[in-house]
Amino acid sequence: MLPAVIAVVVSYLLGSVSFSILFARWLRKIDIRQHGSGNAGATNTLRVLGKGPAIAVFLLDIAKGLAAVALGQAIAGEQGSWLAVACGLASIAGHNWPLYFRFKGGKGIATTVGALIYMAPLPVVAAGIVAIVLIVITRYVSLGSMVFASLVPIVLGLAGEIGPVFWGALVLALLAIVRHRKNIVKLMNGTENKIGAKKKEDS
Ligand code: G3P
Repeated sequence: MLPAVIAVVVSYLLGSVSFSILFARWLRKIDIRQHGSGNAGATNTLRVLGKGPAIAVFLLDIAKGLAAVALGQAIAGEQGSWLAVACGLASIAGHNWPLYFRFKGGKGIATTVGALIYMAPLPVVAAGIVAIVLIVITRYVSLGSMVFASLVPIVLGLAGEIGPVFWGALVLALLAIVRHRKNIVKLMNGTENKIGAKKKEDS
């Protein structure tokens, strides 16, 4: 029991390392949460710091989710275990509510990609392709993010894979929708930021 609890706590602490906040501090001496959309994530890093840092943040945020699930899986000793799911969820909780940054973090999508790709690679790739096409067409990353997170449990459910990974993916889909609630309002009233468009400052 103790190793499992330690693994979940370590996953939360790992998820709390917010790379967008760190890169913005290192490169521009700013708090990214006061710029662009105000979100501590790769999309806002693209707006505020540019392509290179955004790619680095995206990959590092994915790596956090992946490492957390790998840790849970190593301790549980089985594929797709509840512990691996709990570690993935803990890393995303850390990303969204980071211990080191006054609990104000991001929306957890890249870290969700990292956690789920380890446990459900095919549904993640399928959902990822749909999301990328949607983002290219609409230029709304938020819309693509929500569609991605929602599609993973749908694909798992359709495939009859109703187990820990399905329930974890379902929680992550609901969490993604809740974390994007301001984006949803902006999408509905036509004021959501498009990638590649002129920045709109908000919070
Ligand atoms: O993953 C975050 C993305 O979906 C939206 O980010 O900065 O446009 O609110 P942002």
